[in-house]
Amino acid sequence: MDALTLLLQRNSVAQLQAPAPEGEALERILQAGLRSPDHGGLTPWLFLLAQGEGLSRLGEQLALSAQTLGESDEAVAKARQAPQRAPLVITVVARVQPHDKVPRLEQELSAGCAVMAMQMAAQAQGFGGIWRSGGLMFDRGLHERLGLGEQDQIVGFLYLGTPAAEPKRLRPLALESFVRSL
Ligand SMILES: Cc1cc2nc3c(=O)[nH]c(=O)nc-3n(C[C@H](O)[C@H](O)[C@H](O)COP(=O)(O)O)c2cc1C
Repeated sequence: MDALTLLLQRNSVAQLQAPAPEGEALERILQAGLRSPDHGGLTPWLFLLAQGEGLSRLGEQLALSAQTLGESDEAVAKARQAPQRAPLVITVVARVQPHDKVPRLEQELSAGCAVMAMQMAAQAQGFGGIWRSGGLMFDRGLHERLGLGEQDQIVGFLYLGTPAAEPKRLRPLALESFVRSL
């Protein structure tokens, strides 16, 4: 698939099954993340990989956060099960460093770019993925248990695997609604 087609047809896939990308395919995905725009060369990225038992461990951490935050039993159970929706979940962290010229937002955007770059690198190799989030990614308790620093912020959970459904139709959007000349 050429680069422009990939950009124009990028698509999220929610239904994912094994196999997950592994070996060189996974390495290329992670390397694509490391090619994200990076003001100041701060490399503000950390990718936490969960697969197999790691998915259960991530689910337990999410459930603990949900419980600590006083969420319902149903929400706690949902949080525990969430990572099981794909064979690989990459928790993408912005490792934010205090910097005169590169504010927090720019470092978080850089990590966000890494999410999309990795999703596209997965799609380019025949895999599928979806960027998920949720309020728990702001929980400092979760950050501490995952070994993150005080300034770090989770920007998303990238679910990756093999598409288990036909690709959904792309939503047509009219350029004129989004573009104007100055
Ligand atoms: C920062 C961010 C967080 C998101 N969080 C979720 C989420 O928690 N759950 C979800 O179903 N989609 C979430 N999405 C949207 C999906 O990743 C996806 O973009 C959406 O399903 C539309 O599909 P498309 O990417 O193929 O257009 C999020 C997107 C972004 C950019």
